[in-house]
Amino acid sequence: MDISLEVTQRNHFEAQKIAKKKKLTNDIDDNGSEIKKSKLQIEQSAPEKNAVTAGSGCSKTLTNVRDCEAGTKVKPTKPFAHQSPKKRLQLNTVSPSGSPQKQAKEKFIYGNYNQYYGYRNKGRECRDIRLEMFMSRSELFQDKRVIDIGCNSGLITMEVAKRLAVKSIVGLDIDRALISQANKTLVRQKKALPLENEARRLHKFPYNVSFVHGNYVLRDDVLLEIEHEQFDVILCLSITKWIHLNFGDAGLKQAFRRMYLQLRSGGKLVLEAQPYDNYGRRKKMNDTINAHYKAMTFFPKHFTDYLLSAEVGFEGVELMGVPENCEEGFKRPIQLFHKK
Ligand SMILES: C[S@@+](CC[C@H](N)C(=O)[O-])C[C@H]1O[C@@H](n2cnc3c(N)ncnc32)[C@H](O)[C@@H]1O
Repeated sequence: MDISLEVTQRNHFEAQKIAKKKKLTNDIDDNGSEIKKSKLQIEQSAPEKNAVTAGSGCSKTLTNVRDCEAGTKVKPTKPFAHQSPKKRLQLNTVSPSGSPQKQAKEKFIYGNYNQYYGYRNKGRECRDIRLEMFMSRSELFQDKRVIDIGCNSGLITMEVAKRLAVKSIVGLDIDRALISQANKTLVRQKKALPLENEARRLHKFPYNVSFVHGNYVLRDDVLLEIEHEQFDVILCLSITKWIHLNFGDAGLKQAFRRMYLQLRSGGKLVLEAQPYDNYGRRKKMNDTINAHYKAMTFFPKHFTDYLLSAEVGFEGVELMGVPENCEEGFKRPIQLFHKK
C-alpha cells in the first residue's frame, strides 16, 4: 500500500484507540456538535500523530507546506529535504482557527457534509444513480484494486465493494468524523454476516473494504516522486471543486497528476467534476477559498485537456454517461480516462 495511506491509516487507528478510551466514538450526532468536541480532544491527546481533520486544510506546524490561511509557504522548522519520505508524508494536526462562529462557518469547507447521501439521493432510499452506471460497466471493477477519493461516509464505496466484486477498495476522506462513521457501518456489516469467517478467508465484502483518513493533496509536489502504481480504478466523484477551492489550481493539478501516477498500466480514472457555475456560492466560505477562487486560471472546461496532456499523461477519455433521474444539480457528466 502507498506509504501515505499506510501512515494515515496507522494514525487513524491510533486516534480511534484514544477516542475509544475516552468513550468518544459514539458521540457523533447529526448537527455535529459532539463531533467537534471529540476531534478537539483527540487532537489534544495525540498532537503529532493525527492527520488533517475537517475544519481546516493544514497545520501551522507543517514544514514547507502551503499555509492554508494565507496561501503562502510556512517557514520550515527542519529542512524539508532532510526528512525521511515517511516523515514528509505525515500530516499534522490542525489547530482550530479563530472564533467558534468562524469554526462553524468553516464546518463543511471540504464538502464534508454529514448528510450528503440523504439529500443527494432524496426519495430514492439511498440508491445512488451513479451505481447503476457503474454496474452497466461491471468489467471495469471486477477483481480490481480501487480507491474512492473523498468517500464521505462510505456509501458509494461500500456499494461498489458489494455489487461490483472488486478485489479491494479503499475509501479516503479528509474528514475524520466521516471516516469514523464509515468504519462503524463497516463493523456493523461484518457483525451481520452469517458466515463471517468465510467472507474474511475469501476477502469478500465487507472484507474487501477499508477506510483511511487523510488529505489526498500532498504537502509538496516533490512527494509525487515517491508515488507508485497501485490501483486499477480511481473514483473521483464530486470532489474536484473542493480540492480546487481549498488548494487552488496547483493543488488540483497535483491531485490529477497523483491519480495518474497511482494508476497501474491500463488503469481507469472515473471522474465526476463539478461545473464552474457550481463554485460561486462557496467562494466566501473562508479567506483561503476566496483567494483561490479569485486567482483561478484553470477551470473545469480545461480539465480534460490537462488530463490528456503530457503533463499528466492519460491516453484517452470517454463519456460514461450523465446520470438522469436525480436532483437537477447532480446531473454531472461522468468521464472515464484511460492510462496506457
Ligand atoms: C461532496 S462530497 C462527495 C462524496 C462522494 N465522493 C460522492 O460523490 O458520493 C466530497 C467529499 O470529499 C472529501 N474531500 C474534500 N477534499 C478532500 C481532500 N483533499 N482529500 C480527501 N477528501 C476530501 C470531503 O470530506 C467530502 O466527503
